[in-house]
Amino acid sequence: MILVTGGTGLVGSHLLYHLSLENESIRAIYRSVSTLEKVKNVFFSYTNDTTLFEKIEWFQADITDVPSMIPAFFGVKHVYHCAAFISFNPTDYREMRKINIHGTAIIVNLAIDAKIEKFCYVSSIAAVGESLTNELITEDNEWNKELDNSGYSITKFGAEMEVWRASQEGVKVVIVNPGVILGCGFWDSGSGKLFSQVYNGFDYYTEGITGFVAVKDVVKAMILLMKSDVSNERFILVAENKSFKEIFFAIAAAFGKKRPSKKVTSWQTEIFWRVAWLISKINGKESLLSKYSARSAHLISTYSSKKIQHMNNFEFEKIEKTIQEITTKYPRK
Ligand SMILES: NC(=O)c1ccc[n+]([C@@H]2O[C@H](COP(=O)([O-])OP(=O)(O)OC[C@H]3O[C@@H](n4cnc5c(N)ncnc54)[C@H](OP(=O)(O)O)[C@@H]3O)[C@@H](O)[C@H]2O)c1
Repeated sequence: MILVTGGTGLVGSHLLYHLSLENESIRAIYRSVSTLEKVKNVFFSYTNDTTLFEKIEWFQADITDVPSMIPAFFGVKHVYHCAAFISFNPTDYREMRKINIHGTAIIVNLAIDAKIEKFCYVSSIAAVGESLTNELITEDNEWNKELDNSGYSITKFGAEMEVWRASQEGVKVVIVNPGVILGCGFWDSGSGKLFSQVYNGFDYYTEGITGFVAVKDVVKAMILLMKSDVSNERFILVAENKSFKEIFFAIAAAFGKKRPSKKVTSWQTEIFWRVAWLISKINGKESLLSKYSARSAHLISTYSSKKIQHMNNFEFEKIEKTIQEITTKYPRK
């Protein structure tokens, strides 16, 4: 039996589709029935065959609630832990610690107890250290707790520590550290917003650079690593390092829409996040732009995926092709 957490999210839903192609026993965690429709839509983006979705045994639980999670581990041999709370809003920090670190500790404890065979954790490039030189960042760059890290980065690093604890307890683990993941189906959250914003005429861009990867490649790597003899290693998953400008322009071209034309400088975002913070304090609503989102839009961080590429000649899809394919699945009005 394979257990997938976060099955109703971007990575989890695409992973479930690919697992369902070759496996019969798959259990996936969900919190609310209303989220299953999105997973169905992701399956439909690949195939009209409904039997694949029907293979999934849906299990209602919250990863931070031990009693609800215990029965989910019955008969489980492989765990793919994709559940997480992604936010750059400082007010979400406590909740992120609870879900990302404490939740992962619970999954790890249950995995150790169930004597599972292998564990795959979806971490992030946010849990990999910065480069002190101009060289590409690799898995060996150590995360530095002395820096002004975002809450998300702190909790992804904390969760990795829990997963390494599992390896100390004898569980074979693999960790993947993807860059920004591009995929279809979740247009109102995460990287899906890049597509909906450009489609709806968003006119601004920044020139920060980071790593991007197709969700298909993320799940392909996860399945490959779980089937391989590799254990107790982590792998950066970045197809290409690109600027947000290049990504926005490529999305606009694929949609046949006007390119964003207004470059936003770092001093403009520095002013904007402070104003947004002040407004959020006055009206009690979530800030429109957090300090960390503002700064990451201008950061230049470039990553190397040589480690996974050298394994079985793993090849990543070019980001331009990924973007073209995703835009064909976008629900145009
Ligand atoms: N998206 C990216 O660009 C990106 C990049 C690098 C790494 N990652 C990592 O990849 C993983 C998957 O990300 P994603 O993009 O698929 O995120 P997502 O679309 O936001 O999905 C998050 C998933 O976690 C579930 N979840 C959250 N809290 C939970 C809880 N307390 N109990 C049970 N399930 C819970 C959500 O369930 P509900 O549907 O009920 O909310 C959802 O299924 C995360 O670990 C993330 O840190 C993502």
